[in-house]
Parts: sequence; structure tokens; C-alpha cells
Amino acid sequence: MNGNVRYASSSRLKKGEKTVWEFLVGHKSDGTVLTIDPTGLTKHSVVFGATGSGKTVLCKAIIEEAAVQGVPVLAIDPKGDIGCLAIRSLDFRFRPFSDVEAKLLGRTPEEYATGLATEYRNKYAEEGHGDEDLEGFVKRTEVRIYTPRSSSGFPVSMSPRLAPPRDFVKMMAEEPSLALDLLELKASNILRLAGYGEESKVQHALITKILEEAWRSGHELTLETLIQEVSAPSFDKLGMLELDEAIGTRDRSELARRLNVLVTDAGAKAWFIGETPDFDKWFRKSQGRTPICVVDLRGIPSEIGKQVFVEYLLQELFYWLTRQEGTQALQYLLYFDEVHGYCPPVREPPSKKILMHLIHVSRAYGLGIIMATQNPSDVDYKVISNANFRFIGNLSTRQDIERVRTGLSLGSDAFQTISTLRTRQFYHQVFDQGESSIITPRWLMSYHRGPLEAKEVKMLTAGLPAPKTSVRALPLLVPEEALVREAEKKRIKRGFLGGTEERYLFQNTVYLPYLEFSYRYSAKKGLVSKQTVIQEGRSAVLALKEVDLGFQPELLELTSQVSEEELDPRSVVVGVDSTELLNQRLTELKGLLYDHDEKLETLAKQSEGNGEDDATRKSLKEHMEYVAKQRSFRWKLFSDGLKLPSKIDLDTFEFLEGNLFYIPYYIIKLSRDRESRYLVWNRVGKEDETIADELMKNRKFRDLLETRRAAKLRSELVPTSNALQR
Ligand SMILES: Nc1ncnc2c1ncn2[C@@H]1O[C@H](COP(=O)(O)OP(=O)(O)O)[C@@H](O)[C@H]1O
Ligand SMILES: [Mg+2]
Repeated sequence: MNGNVRYASSSRLKKGEKTVWEFLVGHKSDGTVLTIDPTGLTKHSVVFGATGSGKTVLCKAIIEEAAVQGVPVLAIDPKGDIGCLAIRSLDFRFRPFSDVEAKLLGRTPEEYATGLATEYRNKYAEEGHGDEDLEGFVKRTEVRIYTPRSSSGFPVSMSPRLAPPRDFVKMMAEEPSLALDLLELKASNILRLAGYGEESKVQHALITKILEEAWRSGHELTLETLIQEVSAPSFDKLGMLELDEAIGTRDRSELARRLNVLVTDAGAKAWFIGETPDFDKWFRKSQGRTPICVVDLRGIPSEIGKQVFVEYLLQELFYWLTRQEGTQALQYLLYFDEVHGYCPPVREPPSKKILMHLIHVSRAYGLGIIMATQNPSDVDYKVISNANFRFIGNLSTRQDIERVRTGLSLGSDAFQTISTLRTRQFYHQVFDQGESSIITPRWLMSYHRGPLEAKEVKMLTAGLPAPKTSVRALPLLVPEEALVREAEKKRIKRGFLGGTEERYLFQNTVYLPYLEFSYRYSAKKGLVSKQTVIQEGRSAVLALKEVDLGFQPELLELTSQVSEEELDPRSVVVGVDSTELLNQRLTELKGLLYDHDEKLETLAKQSEGNGEDDATRKSLKEHMEYVAKQRSFRWKLFSDGLKLPSKIDLDTFEFLEGNLFYIPYYIIKLSRDRESRYLVWNRVGKEDETIADELMKNRKFRDLLETRRAAKLRSELVPTSNALQR
């Protein structure tokens, strides 16, 4: 149990309403306040209604209430409508997030924001909320937007670990059906990732068996060991059949091959970028703020991908929940917006299985589940008929109304009532109390508007303490003396030795920052019927080359810390977020390119308007060519520097995840008279001409090593070897 404080806020007490713990969600058609009992939420709820009927608003009102009163929330957001719960302020001013709307409406941003603030203040006060509720929401709750396969919010990934749930063996003995369900769910999850559907029964049986063997014996499987097991299982029977009869070697090697793609393919690897969901952390208050965790699924390109992720996420929630103490009171809230496709009637996709499980155990663990969708035929009949709170909004067809009516066993008069509902009106039924009424959800405290753009998600996330990228130091594997001896040989071979004036300007171990990152963009394929496909890739570059990232002071700051950690290969230094660095560069570049485009456009117009004069036209043409060349040069510098493909659509281009690490180099600078040269060895003791060349060519890089860092490192960090010093 977590020790959340639950009380009805004083503004509600003043109104003479119930003093028990309750959520103020809106008002009834007779003008009385609508409160709901949070405990009633643990017997799941459904919300139906056409687009724009107010489903999301209603559910957000419940989320706001829950969070203010200390109940952490997990919200699954397929359409990006929930993230704007993060946009809130004590005076209801929502700039810069209201600026887009202002622009659409042709108003100035400031004027629009002021009008909006007045509207929100008035409407919000109408329901009897006081300032302390708003203050509670703004100061004691926090919205964290998690973005699988994207780094605009907190990146979140699936775990490639196939570790058994805790106490699996005990569970197998005490609750075998639950244990088997968990096994099956994990197996379907892996198979779906590998592109197998519900029909692949034997593959499913094989994976389940491999997992079971491993989990029972407490072995930790990984994707790699799973692949080995699939190719050569350590058992020879599957069910009643000999292994080869149950699943032939061809099917097995196909399965192994497809699983292997998960390990090798960059696109598949993107699933494993970011932190894995950890509900101990996600549901924990940070600095006294109750978290509202929004999982924005828009970064996942395919429907099937979204489903696989949701299955995984809910599975993790389920594992986690089964390890918590039981309780009747509402402890956590799960909201699933636009749930259609995830819990369909008739079919049994794994997402439905896990949702059903969650619904089944929710009461025992104090988990409230709310699901919203347009059409009652989108979800399984059992889900509808067992729901405790039902909210039916405006529906577009008679057929839909009839379906809800029968689904919820409502009387025939309900048909009439539902068909007259307007926007933001719901027919509300509390099943366990047999009550029903027409309600309107209250006005929200947060800014309700269309889906957030990626850069807005970024802004909203940036305000929060982000999980920082860790920096790895790859230690020098070769003892320095070996390098030094080697260096001597090299110098002799190159004929550099001889004159007495020869000097060592410096010899040192220098750590250079590298960036490893993945990216994504869409591209058109096919000659006739152009198809948009998502392309992904991965690059690793030296972050100090001018074309890549400039000489980022943040990167250099870390260098010294890294050197201190030199000896431990696993050492990590918490540092800058490398994706952030890349994105800054990208934004800069986009700005530059757009400037060029604009210039080209202006020049083109001038040229058109100037039909007669040949000389002017010629000069304009030359100017245009020059600008176009500049533009492509800019782009080339960037794309070559970061090792990106030459043709990408910048508008859809996105960095997914970056990793910053440092590689040590042993560098010697020799000089005689005015001549000087660098000898560079990499961490395995091989001479690295690329870095040496870069030092010769790139002045900034050279200066950096020679002046600032070199001096510092020599004196402070690396004991200078005297072997070659005169
Ligand atoms: N802050 C707010 N509080 C309550 N209702 C709002 C707010 N902002 C807009 N609305 C209303 O909510 C409706 C949109 O509801 P929404 O929940 O997005 O629909 P649905 O999720 O059913 O498609 C609009 O009719 C709009 O008038
Ligand atoms: Mg909605």
C-alpha cells in the first residue's frame, strides 16, 4: 500500500457535499454535483460516444481528480490527445501551447491566451472547484510523457530480457493457471514482435515450452539464448509428439531466423531503445508530485506494432501488480483512450487477453480501469456488460444506440434518452447501485486541445528532470609503455628521428567523445505507385569533428571525468543527453536550409518579374545557382559528417536515441624545426591515421588538443611516461 493522503478538499466540504473521499467529475442535468466514489472505479468503467462527444474530456476530468488526490495514473494514448494534461498553469494561461490555435483562428497569441484564461477560469469555477484544487493539480501532480520508438518524450522500450517473473516457481505451485497465462503472454509477445500472428500455434507452443523450462529452473533467457534453443531445443517432445513431428526443422529455422532479425535489424532494435517500464518508478511520487504517466503511441509506425507494445506494457503492469499487496481502495488508475482494436469482440489478440486479466484482478489490487471508444461494437461484450461505471455519450447511428442498449441491458426508454444527448452530455449508469442520470463532465484544469506535436512533447518533457544519458568510457586496453615502445619503432620507420632539435610536444592519453545514434525518416518507394515507407538506421561518429557537432563544451567537460574513471570498463558518467545535442544541430540546420529555400524563392520571383532584361536575369540565375549550391553543401556537411544517407526527407527526419561514449587515444606530437606531426594509437594499440589526419587538417580540433585539454590532462590526469622524454 502506498501512503497516499485521501480527503475531500475543503472547497467541497464548504458546499455541504459528502465528506468521504470522492471525485468531482461534473454535474447532473438537475444541476446537482456529480461525484463518483473512487472505489467504484476498481470495477472497471467504459465510455462510449462519437468523435467530439467529450469522451476524452470526461476521462481527463477523472484523471485530474485522481492525481490531485494522490492516485498515480497510467494513460495509454494512441492519438496523442492525453499528453496536454501537462499543459496547465495557476492562471490558466497556456502560452506558448495556445499559439497554434490562436494562429488558426487568426488571433494574436496574447489576446487569444487571455480570452482562453477567462473562459477556463469561469467554466472551471462553475462546478464548485476552488483555487486549492487547481493549485493541487499544478503543484502536486506531474505529467510524464513516455514515447516508445521516439525520443520526443521519455523514450521507453520493450525489454529484450526474458527473465521469469519473480516467484515464478511458487506461482506455478500455487496459482498454476496464472503462471501459465504469464508464460503464454510472454510467448505471444515475442512471436508478435517476430511477425507471427495468432494462427502460429506450434511456434507458440515451442516458445512457451522453452520459456517454461528456463523459468522453472530459474535460468535467465535472453533473445540470443532463445534463438539457440529454438534451433536446437534441449527437449525432444512437444506435448504428446516427438519434437520433429510437432514442428519440423524448417519451421524452427524460420522461427530462429525471424527472431534473429530482432537482434540484428536496426529497425527492430529501435524497440529496445530507452528505459523499460518500471512501475516502482513510474508510480512513485517525485518531489511530492503524483505522476500521470502518458504513453504516447504515435511514434510506433504500425497498428500491429502499437498492439505489441501495449501488450508488453500491460503485461509489465500485470506482473508488477501481482507483486503488490492486495487492497480494496483505489490505488492506481489505468486509462485507455480509443481502445478499439485492442479488445475486440470474437477475436482473441494477446492485448485482449492481458486486458481481461487486468480487469479480472483489478479489484483485488485497487486498480481502476477506464476504457473509451467510439463504438460499443469495438469492444468485447463481456467488457461492456461487466463494467460498473458506464458513460454513454452522443452516438451517431440508431444501430450504435441499440447496440449499447442491449449490451448494457438498458430498458427501452434508454434508447430515447441516449438519442437526444448533445456534445459533452452522457447517460451515466452506476451498475452496482442501479442508478442512472444525464451528466456533463466538468471543465478541465488542463488545456484540452488537439494532439501535441513532437517538439511540444519535447518542451513539456524538458521541464522535468530527465533520465540522463549515461556516458561510457572504453578504457585503454593496451598498457601505455607498449604504445610508447611502438611509437619509437614507428618514428624510426618514418625516418623522423635523427636531428637533435627534435622535440616531443606532448604525449598523452586523450578521450574523444563518440556518438552512436539511431534515426528515422519516411521515404517514397516504388516508381509508379509511390508508397511511403519508414526508414531507420544507425550511425556512430566522432563528436568532435566540426561538421558533426562542433566542440560542444558539455562534451569536453565530461572528458576529464571520464579519464578519472579510466580503469573501470563499466564506469558510467551521467552526462548530457546526446539526442538533445543532435536535435539542436538538426534544428539549426533546418533553419539554415529554410533560409536558403526562402532566398531561392525570392530570387525566383524576382527573376519571373524581370522578363525583359537579359543581364539582370543572368545575374539572378547565377545568384540562384550559388544559393542552391550553398544549400546542398550545407546539407552534405551535415549528412556526411553524421554518416546519414544522402537523400532523406528532412521534414520527417528524427533522431530516435543516442548514446555517448568516450574512446581513449594515445597521442604523441613530435616536432623538428617547423615541421611537426602526430602519431595516434587507438585503444587496442593500433595506429589510427584518421585521427592523426584530422589533427593535421582540422585546426579547431588541433588547438583543442594542444592548448586547453592537453595541458590540463598532462598535468592532472595522466602520469606522463618518461620513457621518451629527454
Ligand atoms: N477544457 C475543457 N474542458 C471541458 N470540455 C472541453 C474543454 N475544452 C474543450 N472541451 C469540449 O470538449 C469537446 C471535445 O471532446 P473530446 O473529449 O475531445 O471528444 P472525444 O474524445 O469524444 O472525441 C468539445 O466539444 C469541446 O467543446
Ligand atoms: Mg478523444
